[in-house]
Amino acid sequence: MAKKLFIETLGCAMNVRDSEHMIAELSKEEHYELTEHSHEADLIIINTCSVREKPVAKLFSEIGIFSKNKKPNTKIGVCGCTASHLGAEIIKRAPSVDFVLGARNVSKINQVLHTKHAVEVSTDYDESLYDFAEYRSNPLKAMVNISIGCDKQCTFCIVPATRGDEISIPSALIVREITKAAAQGAKEVMLLGQNVNNYGRRFSTTDGVCDFTQLLGKVSETEGLERIRFTSPHPLHMDDLFLETFASNPKICKQIHIPLQSGSTRLLKIMKRGYTKEWFLDRCRKVRLLCPEATISTDIIVGFPGESDEDFEETMEVLEEVRFEQMFSFKYSPRPLTPAADYPDQVDPMIAAERLTRLQTRHTQILDEIMDAQLGQEHYVYFDELKPYGRVAGRSDDGKLVFAEGSEELLGQIKKVRITKTSRGALDGIVLES
Ligand code: SAH
Ligand code: F3S
Repeated sequence: MAKKLFIETLGCAMNVRDSEHMIAELSKEEHYELTEHSHEADLIIINTCSVREKPVAKLFSEIGIFSKNKKPNTKIGVCGCTASHLGAEIIKRAPSVDFVLGARNVSKINQVLHTKHAVEVSTDYDESLYDFAEYRSNPLKAMVNISIGCDKQCTFCIVPATRGDEISIPSALIVREITKAAAQGAKEVMLLGQNVNNYGRRFSTTDGVCDFTQLLGKVSETEGLERIRFTSPHPLHMDDLFLETFASNPKICKQIHIPLQSGSTRLLKIMKRGYTKEWFLDRCRKVRLLCPEATISTDIIVGFPGESDEDFEETMEVLEEVRFEQMFSFKYSPRPLTPAADYPDQVDPMIAAERLTRLQTRHTQILDEIMDAQLGQEHYVYFDELKPYGRVAGRSDDGKLVFAEGSEELLGQIKKVRITKTSRGALDGIVLES
């Protein structure tokens, strides 16, 4: 009988892909079925995130609940960025944990599974050439890593400490993986990395020169592939050639994430982001000029140490001008192993909370205006998910979630859809004959 695997994935898209890699590697040795109930699982994996403090605090209470309700021989593994960060301390604090596997070590899942209290968290370990087994939670949409780690040292961010130095995966391997996924039905690929447009700075082999723009060119030649997305790019590396390629290559979806963090050039400098407010706005204007239909999303941190009312107003100004379609906004969370955690001028959490509310309230108004204006518009939607009550869901080229009436025959198809109903989070439409 197949064993049951419960896997909880927190955090970013890279973690989602790491979970897929672990599922694939586990299946090389034994057949596992996924379960949504930890109490019936033979193996419980928590794939953690450490970017902010909250999920870390939750981890130990969660381990307690899992170990209380689990079957007697079930193993518990803690993986991901918090595993990298806390390492053996996790087992010290929670001895019911059987193994700890860092974000850069997921290829070792079968090794740690068989070694009681194994801890594999080296950030020097290089998985850039590792040939992972295949597993995709949705075969219609492939996630493919193009680099691991991050070479930036943003002063608020723990990721370089947990995922290590940036190494690009050779383009030939990336193209091979995408070709295989496309042959198995994936019309869309999401290229993943902490800093995708820094691609090509360091390979672990003597792969020929290939930067991100060139990689996009190579990937877009894949037979059967119709859509390319990527996350996350860094505003600093958005040169003109990259933006021109983004705008002109019809396979590249017209949705771009440009993480702002702060609208204040003074704070951006202290964050070590490497760009100014003006450069950020210039890049957004260039996207709009070259590609008016593109949607722009962003990440914003409020309450970074030393953030004054004036600094925050500059962030609000950028929101007013760019009118981000999606905005992931966070209260600054001091993280160990990061310089900003020791800055003396930490912002009062009440003030940070007020700023976050103001930012999010204004963004919600903007989003409502954007979505209301969608009524009657037409989009090409790639349907990739079956929904209850005879409905299907998919994404428009510019990243909007669209629902329509339909069944299996629409899955894996790109169809023209007219929007008939709008809401803040999603659109409803009817499929037009194509
Ligand atoms: N390169 C990745 C960044 C990963 S962290 C990317 O662009 O997706 C994801 C987001 O978390 C960052 O963009 C930032 O907005 C937020 N973040 C990182 N560290 C944080 C901290 N200490 N406090 C609050 N938010 C943080
Ligand atoms: Fe973090 Fe900055 Fe890299 S936000 S992941 S250090 S680009």
